[in-house]
Amino acid sequence: MTILGIESSCDETAAAVCRDGQILSSIVSSQSIHEKYGGVVPEIASREHEKLLNLIVLESLDKATIGIDDLNAIAVTHGPGLAGTLLTGVSFAKGLGIGLQIPVIPINHLEAHIFANFLAVPSLKFPFVCLLVSGGHTQLWLIKEMNNYHLLGETRDDAAGEAFDKGARIFGLGYPGGPVIEKEAIGGNPSAHLFPRGLMGKDSLEFSFSGLKTSLLYFMDEFEETESLTKKDIIASYQQAIIDTLVEKMKRAIEKSEVKTCVIAGGVAANQCLRNSLKVALPEIQILFPDLSYCTDNAAMISYLGELKYKPSEHISMEFSVNPNLKLA
Ligand code: KG4
Ligand code: ZN
Repeated sequence: MTILGIESSCDETAAAVCRDGQILSSIVSSQSIHEKYGGVVPEIASREHEKLLNLIVLESLDKATIGIDDLNAIAVTHGPGLAGTLLTGVSFAKGLGIGLQIPVIPINHLEAHIFANFLAVPSLKFPFVCLLVSGGHTQLWLIKEMNNYHLLGETRDDAAGEAFDKGARIFGLGYPGGPVIEKEAIGGNPSAHLFPRGLMGKDSLEFSFSGLKTSLLYFMDEFEETESLTKKDIIASYQQAIIDTLVEKMKRAIEKSEVKTCVIAGGVAANQCLRNSLKVALPEIQILFPDLSYCTDNAAMISYLGELKYKPSEHISMEFSVNPNLKLA
């Protein structure tokens, strides 16, 4: 089975080819145009996808050394994400599917992030707990088996990725915030300042990052760098507050669900400090992470999940639309 994956839910234009569970190619074009605005501008993102999709898809076929007629199906993200950017990908996929007379499979972006872990570890077994941490979501899931997911907890306000992005803006570090905060925090003292950790009450599996962001805003208003307290220290302390929260809630979720395996997924899963802290906090648990290139938005995860969902004997209707608020369960 050879599946083309298309991803356009936010500001990454991506296409990939998966054949029999192997990724033959994965092309991602990140739209740097948004950097100067400090965040994604939906209208511009949609126009960029429209400009790039054809080229990126052709490049993915080329890299996979297959022809367009070798495709058995197309998998495309139909939500959650930005309505306009999703529309560009779904419209493109449907047009191509009609032209080639092959099915188009709608894919949930969140589910694809979770299943990206199977790309790194094909032997991953159900059940497992997944910490899904991206720019728009912070959720803890008990993944019992394919299509059987139980939400254990989620954020009440900002997502963890958003906390990185908003923090970076306050520090004057640019967008996206996660990678740049991680880089700038290296060498800083993560215990230099104690930022608040939200919703740490005994059994809570919910998250809250808006208080942390506000606290940073007030702190930076008054902050003057000294030799004993540098900006690097503050960046490291801010990152630590996010990571401590994620690690503590993951620990509780594991205890509650009594599983022996956990995975992380989404852009924030690329954070090395988070990976290391989880390993230290949960020495008895198997902790898995996707490859770095499959943490942030990509189409490899879309094509891979598309292949898992595709049943050649079943009719797949094209009567699906985009759903910016698509949920996982
Ligand atoms: O999954 P993703 O690419 O897009 C969404 O589905 O939202 O996640 C993007 C988010 C951004 O907020 C970005 O700042 C964050 O992931 N991110 C990171 C790192 N790389 C990306 N956060 C922390 N550390 C990183 N290394
Ligand atoms: Zn994503």
